[in-house]
Amino acid sequence: MQIKRLSDALGAEITGVDVADIDDVEFAEIHAAFLEHQLLVFRDQALEPEPHIEFSKRFGAIETRPERPFTLPGYPEVSVLSNRMVEGKPVGVLSAGDFWHTDLSFGEIPCRATFLHALEVAEEGGDTEWSNIYTAYETLSDDMKARIADLRCTHVFDRRRNRRAQVDAQFADKADEIYGVPVPDAVHPMVRQHPETGRKSLYISPRFVVGVEGMEDYEAQPLLDELFEHQIELKFRYRHTWRQGDLLMWDNPCLIHIGRGDIKSPGIRHMHRTMVLGDRPH
Ligand code: SIN
Repeated sequence: MQIKRLSDALGAEITGVDVADIDDVEFAEIHAAFLEHQLLVFRDQALEPEPHIEFSKRFGAIETRPERPFTLPGYPEVSVLSNRMVEGKPVGVLSAGDFWHTDLSFGEIPCRATFLHALEVAEEGGDTEWSNIYTAYETLSDDMKARIADLRCTHVFDRRRNRRAQVDAQFADKADEIYGVPVPDAVHPMVRQHPETGRKSLYISPRFVVGVEGMEDYEAQPLLDELFEHQIELKFRYRHTWRQGDLLMWDNPCLIHIGRGDIKSPGIRHMHRTMVLGDRPH
């Protein structure tokens, strides 16, 4: 197995391993690399749904939601992200992750790791970008660290309640069905500790965070705007141009990410995604 750093900000590429067939020694090496680099790119994988699910499960309990749109038939654990149309209808979610976010932070127990496998990639477009929220936190001034140390933020699923995130065009005529589902808001610390490394991160994102507990909006919103801008400074980021066969896994407590979309026709980008749950942020 070869592990090569991908950028100053985050990420490593792993070659020479078949994730469908790893032993415990390889798993330990992958796990250590995951903690060190936050995002791993496994090249040249050809994962069927079962091994994709099995590999994911080594890192936590798989998340499934009955109301999640576009899961793979027979596999509620696997979401399909795709711009393929069959008989005029999309076969997957077209614009997953179109605002900076960390997965499932609207839940009481958010996502620990996400696993996204590229079965087909377009010649142009469809990149994904991550930003390191450990370093975003660590580079704040001491005054700002003291100011936000005990703040807690409200994370909401329903895009219609977030002025920073519009409803996706694909679901515009189904907004009630998709966003009207009863998902209680979650309140999480603005600064969370990673469950394994203990490092602190700036655990907010414009997609899900709409307010700060106990703080009026006239004070909370400018603070959030300032922190959202800081979180995505270029020096914290890595942008990935996908190759067919890539399997990427990333550590949500310490990264935010965004799908850049903009897939040039007639390119097809077709991905399978699983997510595993982590701990209650503290
Ligand atoms: C996601 O946010 O889960 C998907 C990002 C992408 O498709 O690039």
